[in-house]
Formats: sequence, structure tokens, C-alpha cells
Amino acid sequence: MSTIEITAEDQVFVLTGAGISAESGLPTFRAADGLWEGHRIEDVCTPEAWDRNAELVWQFYSARREAAEKAQPNPGHLALAKLESELGERYLLCTQNVDNLHEKAGSRRLVHMHGELFTSRCSEECGEPPQTDHALYPTLANVARCACGALLRPHIVWFGETPLEMDWITVEIRRSTLMLVVGTSGSVYPAANFVHWARQGGARTVYVGPEAPLNASAFTHVVTGKAGEVLPGLLSVS
Ligand code: APR
Repeated sequence: MSTIEITAEDQVFVLTGAGISAESGLPTFRAADGLWEGHRIEDVCTPEAWDRNAELVWQFYSARREAAEKAQPNPGHLALAKLESELGERYLLCTQNVDNLHEKAGSRRLVHMHGELFTSRCSEECGEPPQTDHALYPTLANVARCACGALLRPHIVWFGETPLEMDWITVEIRRSTLMLVVGTSGSVYPAANFVHWARQGGARTVYVGPEAPLNASAFTHVVTGKAGEVLPGLLSVS
């Protein structure tokens, strides 16, 4: 596909998923074997998993922290940061990713709807705000505690929990005229519905990834390719 023109009237909403970080060496979730780095998702990414074995959950997220700390943004992340610098308030980036590669690339108008890897919060929801936390926790005895005494848990939206900032996201999708979705399989809701909400408002909807997502039919354009190869030349701001 040739370039997509962004005009002075456009309001752009971008949704990214695990695929945009794949070229930075961070694995996506739904590999063919159904495991994420050797774990079943229900053993490490649910409130029930936390209740059953908080130590395993922290070992898993400690390994994710270690990998993300070393990873560097790729040309896909950088292209989106450049787009933000050109569009300012006419742009919002919503990511399902918990890594911080968009920030490392320079993105600032950014919402992490599934939480953030380098933030922890009280596991008892005592009201203390989430806190920045880069520590690794190999055993439960190492895990830092909230001011109230409860264990800290990862500030991650697990399966069965409500995504963050949905009111803001909904408003931004409603006013968008162009939705760009990158590297997500279209299998997790509500994110998989965003494209439908954008279409209802009449927006152009573009998907970028090496294979068509499950919700491909809702896109006006599907661009097949890797984010780091496609994004740098895809968009032109006039
Ligand atoms: N560039 C763009 N897309 C890519 C690339 C790449 N280089 N490599 C892989 N992809 C695509 C795959 O084709 C796939 O469609 O990225 C997608 C990754 O899909 P998933 O692993 O399902 O990840 P995602 O859609 O982000 O998962 C959504 O599920 O596990 C939960 O909360 C977690 O945020 C996550 C959510």
C-alpha cells in the first residue's frame, strides 16, 4: 500500500499490541503452543493465579521486567513517537503492552490500558497510589510491601479485571477520524472492539501486522508486514 495521508482535520487514535515490540525481542502472547514463555496464561495472568501462587506470578513478572529493561525501541515505536511530535493533541496512543518501549522511543500522549510492568500497587487495594517499581522478586520474602503492610502486586490488568482509563479512551475513539492498529491479534476485548467503535463514527481504520487479525473485516485497510518495516514509511502528515 502507498502512504496514508493525514490532513489538518484528522484526529488520530493508535492502538498497539504485543506485535509492535516483537522486533525489539519481546515475545508476543499467543504463540502456537499456547504458552507465554513456558507458562499457561491462567497460571500467571489472573487474580486466581495471584491468590493461588503469588510467588510464581512475581517470578513471571520479574522475568518480564528483566527482558523489558534490556529491550530497545524499534523503528515502529520511533515512527509513532515522530507522528506524535507532528500531530500533538490531535493524536493519542493507546497500548495494550505493559513494557515501556513507547516511552523509551519518546511517546508522551500515551495510555497503558492493561497496566505497566514497572509499576506496582497494593494487593489489598487500600487506596495508596500505584508506585514505580523496577525491582525483581525471586521469592515472596523479597516482595516490597505497601504502607498498609499488604504485599505489592504488579500494576497489570489481568484476565477478568477491568482495563484502565476506558472513559478517556472511549471519548478519544469517538472523536477520531483515523484509527491505526498495530500488532494485535484482535482476540482480547474490549480492545478488539475499538475498530468497530471507530467505524461507527466514520473513521478510516488501518491495521498493520504480518498476518490479518481476527477482526480484520472491520478495517478499511489491512497492511501486511512487520511494524518496524511498514510504519516508518506509511504515514504522511500534510
Ligand atoms: N509487527 C507487527 N505485528 C506483529 C509483529 C511485527 N513485527 N510480529 C507479530 N505481530 C502480530 C501477530 O501477527 C499477532 O497478531 O502481533 C500480534 C500479537 O498478538 P497477541 O500475542 O495476541 O498480542 P495482543 O493482541 O497484544 O494481546 C492482547 O492479551 O494476553 C493479553 O493483556 C495481554 O495485552 C495483551 C492482550
